Amino acid sequence: MKALVLAGGTGSRLRPFTHTSAKQLLPIANRPVVHYALQAIADAGIEEVGVVVGHHGDDVRRAVGDGSAFGLSIAYLNQPRPLGLAHAVAVARPFLADDDFLLYLGDNHLEDGVAGFVRRAAAQRDAARLLLTPVPDPTAFGVAEVDDDGVVRRLEEKPERPRSDLALVGVYAFTPAVHEAVRAIRPSGRGELEITHAVQWMIDRGLRVRAETTTRPWRDTGSVEDLLEANRHVLDRMEGRVDGKVDPHSVLVGRVRIADGAVVRGSRIVGPVVVGAGTVINNSSVGPYTAIAEDCRIEDSAIEFSVLLQGACVEGAARIERSLIGREAVVTAAPRPPQAHRLVLGDHSKVQLTS
Ligand code: G1P
Repeated sequence: MKALVLAGGTGSRLRPFTHTSAKQLLPIANRPVVHYALQAIADAGIEEVGVVVGHHGDDVRRAVGDGSAFGLSIAYLNQPRPLGLAHAVAVARPFLADDDFLLYLGDNHLEDGVAGFVRRAAAQRDAARLLLTPVPDPTAFGVAEVDDDGVVRRLEEKPERPRSDLALVGVYAFTPAVHEAVRAIRPSGRGELEITHAVQWMIDRGLRVRAETTTRPWRDTGSVEDLLEANRHVLDRMEGRVDGKVDPHSVLVGRVRIADGAVVRGSRIVGPVVVGAGTVINNSSVGPYTAIAEDCRIEDSAIEFSVLLQGACVEGAARIERSLIGREAVVTAAPRPPQAHRLVLGDHSKVQLTS
């Protein structure tokens, strides 16, 4: 079996980040999202991978390389315009030839990998095998109706009135039967060739499409909220380790990972937190659930449940939370507005002022 990883697309919900980079390169715990997909594919025993790239293809090539870091052999396939997931499969046809393949959307993060799914797909060899998960709001996803034997009866892409709560996870196993379907379908309302429609075409022609349902953690990291959540989940399973410099005036609590070449002075870091090489944290409070990439600077600030990309700088920020801060972005304090506390305090009173 081969794998096809999609690392193109527009990433409209992650603008402005996707103006300058691919959404699959945004970091979870300081590693690009797509690295987790490639690791999961390698762990499932697949070796030959096609990575479909769009207009940020050079960045993806740089971040992923030839695949040897994962024990994979990677071919890059160019999708000139983001015309949908099924279009990406059509672009990849020469690479896929007549082999079965795992389609893996590069912005999807599955905490438990895909080894079991791949094993069952190879054993059963249905025309297509889907992975589903119950979600509170299915309108944002492809939605499946499945019978008691796990056979898929009907699929709809982002329906206004979903017929089930089972969303399509961005991992699919296909036999070459999908290629005829991809050729047959027409663009959807949003102008894309939907893989959901290709699978429905197969169902309509009597081909067997089976699904399995998982309740294990899964995220489509296509929005800031979901990226922060995926980051939280991965940090929760991370081991602490300090290779950088932490001065005696600093306190580390819980699982904190500080890369070699990072410096922490006079700060309190509450894990889980990861700090990249070359980052300096001064007189600040960081964490929990925060990933700070390489070469960042945090000074006189408090930041929690956030992700900072390479070279970001935060200075004099009383409190930042649930934030995604881009490469080389600078956050500083505004000049102080006039403010005063008026106090009438009895003897031995204690007051903590937040500003
Ligand atoms: C795509 C698929 C959708 C699926 C989702 C999973 O949506 O079209 O069926 O549920 O991925 O991440 P998109 O992220 O392109 O909107």
